[in-house]
Amino acid sequence: MDTQKTSKFFVGSIITFLIIFGLVKIILNTMQDIGKNVVAPASMSEDDIATRINPVAQAYIGEAPVVVAAPIEEDSVGGGAQVVTQVCAMCHATGMMSSPKLGKAKDWAPRIEQGIETLYQNAINGINMMPARGGRPDLSDDDVKAAVDHMLSLVK
Ligand code: HEC
Repeated sequence: MDTQKTSKFFVGSIITFLIIFGLVKIILNTMQDIGKNVVAPASMSEDDIATRINPVAQAYIGEAPVVVAAPIEEDSVGGGAQVVTQVCAMCHATGMMSSPKLGKAKDWAPRIEQGIETLYQNAINGINMMPARGGRPDLSDDDVKAAVDHMLSLVK
């Protein structure tokens, strides 16, 4: 290569580099703008957010879900009802994954026949798609038993 060719090549490289650099910068700026829109959405009201993050279970197509979210009067019902509402209802309110549905006697009858101790143990240790302690290892045995008791009280 003679000197002239070399310098042309050199200048060419610099120009190419500048063009690529410019393009990348434009792309990055655009991405930043998009990013800003994503992290700062037009202000959402708490209701909107609540609707968005609504548990999938409520959209489950099937029989109308039993309303379990009624306000809990603290001393009248106790912890079991609360555990059911906060943890177990996620599946049992709708009978998701063929779990026995809250308040539906037909679902519970064959299970009750197994005896309360079996129900307690299966709720604590899990069975098939039923996760141990409803997927909440922080619940004590008594919490889970109270929840089972409450579930059974709904079908009495
Ligand atoms: C992730 C969904 C899910 C959650 C959360 C869940 N369950 Fe279940 N549960 C199931 C399914 C599914 C079954 C049916 C299991 C089977 O018999 O195959 C079941 C069955 C049961 C049974 C009947 C067991 C038997 O021996 O027949 C009891 C009792 C029970 N669950 C209690 C609870 C309690 C109490 C909680 C909350 C602490 C809870 N479940 C949370 C899905 C769930």
